[in-house]
Amino acid sequence: MQKNLREIVENRKFLFFGGKGGVGKTTMAAATATWLADNGYKTLIVATDPTVSLSATYEQKISETEITKIETVKNLCGLNINPKKATGVFQKRLEGMMQGFEGLFGKEAVSTPCAEEMAAFDQFVTYLGDTEHDRVVFDTAPTGKTLRELSMPFDWSVYMTSQINNRKELAVALGVANDEQTLERLKKEKLRYDQAVKSLSDENIAAFNLVLLPERLPIEETARAISDLSNFGVKVPALIVNEVIPPDVLKGNWFLEKRRATQEKYFKEIATRFNGILQKEVPLFETDVYGIQNLRKVGEYLYEQ
Ligand SMILES: Nc1ncnc2c1ncn2[C@@H]1O[C@H](COP(=O)(O)OP(=O)(O)O)[C@@H](O)[C@H]1O
Ligand SMILES: [Mg+2]
Repeated sequence: MQKNLREIVENRKFLFFGGKGGVGKTTMAAATATWLADNGYKTLIVATDPTVSLSATYEQKISETEITKIETVKNLCGLNINPKKATGVFQKRLEGMMQGFEGLFGKEAVSTPCAEEMAAFDQFVTYLGDTEHDRVVFDTAPTGKTLRELSMPFDWSVYMTSQINNRKELAVALGVANDEQTLERLKKEKLRYDQAVKSLSDENIAAFNLVLLPERLPIEETARAISDLSNFGVKVPALIVNEVIPPDVLKGNWFLEKRRATQEKYFKEIATRFNGILQKEVPLFETDVYGIQNLRKVGEYLYEQ
């Protein structure tokens, strides 16, 4: 088991924060990116969620197309990928392939896959190849989506390998490879995806942390995410248990005491069920968390204590 979260983020280049919607992924990713930048690491934070949350968190406009300097933090840049706008090579390729399928089997037989997730994933792979920054922090999309994104390159590389090794008829029929040049390009793309997958599952390069609340549903989602990720050879080094009610605020308030008691029941469950994975608690703040001051406060809980 890892010693602490600080050791995890100081020793890995690519840092992910997964988990159910609303548990605090953007907050933890932004707090982490800020802490790393404050500590001298040239850092890039990339959001692949189709929301404006990163801009809201840093209280400034963050571009969807260009890496934007975060004004309040030295060494920190951000990018808010809009999957609706991103049209990666992979997506174009897939669209071509789907048309090919439609031509072969008819329109009804083909359900169009999640183009948005795919476009996001293509961008995501681009930043997994980053050489400009010391650290890249990903504020990932919610669990199910992320897993679909993660699973794509695996299918893709299996598909490509068989297409390249076999006699290419299907590839030709699908319109994805009709000449040597295209095949060469596909080979290069396959290599790019393979490398991305390799860094994702290399625990010395990437850390896929999960954020959860001490509540039934996020716990179940976490369990599923851990098992799904492990199918892809990705180990989860740390869990961040967010919005923990601090005991010193209870002061005989029955409502808070009941909520705290409920949380305690779940701490026990989290400790036993996810035994062997580092667990870090972050308290529930008296306000919502955005803006650089709050992010630095969260960073202190995560990395200084
Ligand atoms: N520890 C906390 N205390 C108080 N509010 C929090 C805390 N963590 C997150 N929040 C708030 O909860 C909301 C959801 O957090 P966010 O990071 O956007 O979640 P996600 O990215 O997982 O959807 C935001 O409004 C954020 O300010
Ligand atoms: Mg978010």
